[in-house]
Amino acid sequence: ITSMANIRHPIVDVHTHVYLPRYAAELRARTSAPRILNWTNGVKTEERLLILDGEPSGGRPIGPQYWDRDEKLEFMQRHGINISFVSSANPWLDFLPADRAQTLAHELNDNLEEYCATSPPAEGFSGLKTLYGFGLLPLVPNVEVSTIIQTIEHLKSLPHIRGIIMGTKGIGKGLDDNALDPVWDAIQAARLVVFIHPHYGVDSTAFGENDNGHVLPLALGFPFETTIAITRLILSGVLDRFPDLRLLLAHSGGALPQLSSRLASCIQHDPIVANRLKHDARYYLGQLYFDAVAYGSEELTFVSRTISRASAFKNGGGNIDAPAGSARLLFGTDHPFFPPLEASQKWPSVENNLAAIRSMAGVDSKPEHQANILGLNALRLFDLHDQVYT
Ligand code: URA
Ligand code: ZN
Repeated sequence: ITSMANIRHPIVDVHTHVYLPRYAAELRARTSAPRILNWTNGVKTEERLLILDGEPSGGRPIGPQYWDRDEKLEFMQRHGINISFVSSANPWLDFLPADRAQTLAHELNDNLEEYCATSPPAEGFSGLKTLYGFGLLPLVPNVEVSTIIQTIEHLKSLPHIRGIIMGTKGIGKGLDDNALDPVWDAIQAARLVVFIHPHYGVDSTAFGENDNGHVLPLALGFPFETTIAITRLILSGVLDRFPDLRLLLAHSGGALPQLSSRLASCIQHDPIVANRLKHDARYYLGQLYFDAVAYGSEELTFVSRTISRASAFKNGGGNIDAPAGSARLLFGTDHPFFPPLEASQKWPSVENNLAAIRSMAGVDSKPEHQANILGLNALRLFDLHDQVYT
């Protein structure tokens, strides 16, 4: 199957969202953000999604592409995607009181298991379904940590749920909160993949007063939030204490790859942190996974080279080049966000991500590395590789 000439591999989307009907109903029942509301424009009434802090221009249009499974499958077919790892879209359960978050987590995880378990088989890849999922934890202030652990136990019993999606708030104090150690421990033991995804952005006063639509919060606020969250996680020693924890970062890890040597240098020059971590900060990039949702081949090449450089901070070193780092890059779409403004057969957001992977320097001439980023890395990460390739 690894023969150069003709690599048969699935295209696997690890970054694709859903608002399950139960979740959409929860948002419709609300009178403040996050919410789904009816919006009347002249004679036409449509539903809109209002979820971001200080959201501009009446939010965004929302429709069945967010909850109808047939629309997800149609989107996949249209873009040649064989398998999707579907996650609830932001802001998850973050805004709910602890008891409601706990109940809804349980129900939504069961619903997502059924959504995946009853999906069609992945054509041409026997033993695999078209849909798998990331579950939810009741990560909200005042929740008992034992309740979170129970939810992890429940997720372990759902065969099509292969990971957990979470934001950056933890149980109120962020992901570097020591109170989360039992949670990381349980997730690591359960071999669930953690997808860390932004929602809050950064203080919107930084974005000025001009109406730039959603551009600044989505293009910058989201990845800056991810950058801060994962940097705090590294500084707190979570990756030292839980070296087998598998974290998948949204949007190629924000600006972390770009800033990782500066981070390492700041750590080395600060008496409070200088000797806290087991490794140089750049080492930890080789412990993380990155989605390839970056829309440009130069950026992906750069991220991949930066991931590969982590090996230089391990005993023995290794190859520092884009193909070497590509083992930790995984194709994603962010569907159903970023739909085309004008009707089109294929979504530019998807086409750009596919083209970016295929033209990465050093990867462009190596079909086996493209196959890894496009699908095989995902099957390995989610422990599904052996089901097809044995
Ligand atoms: N906008 C969102 O609110 N979430 C995403 O995942 C992408 C765009
Ligand atoms: Zn997303």
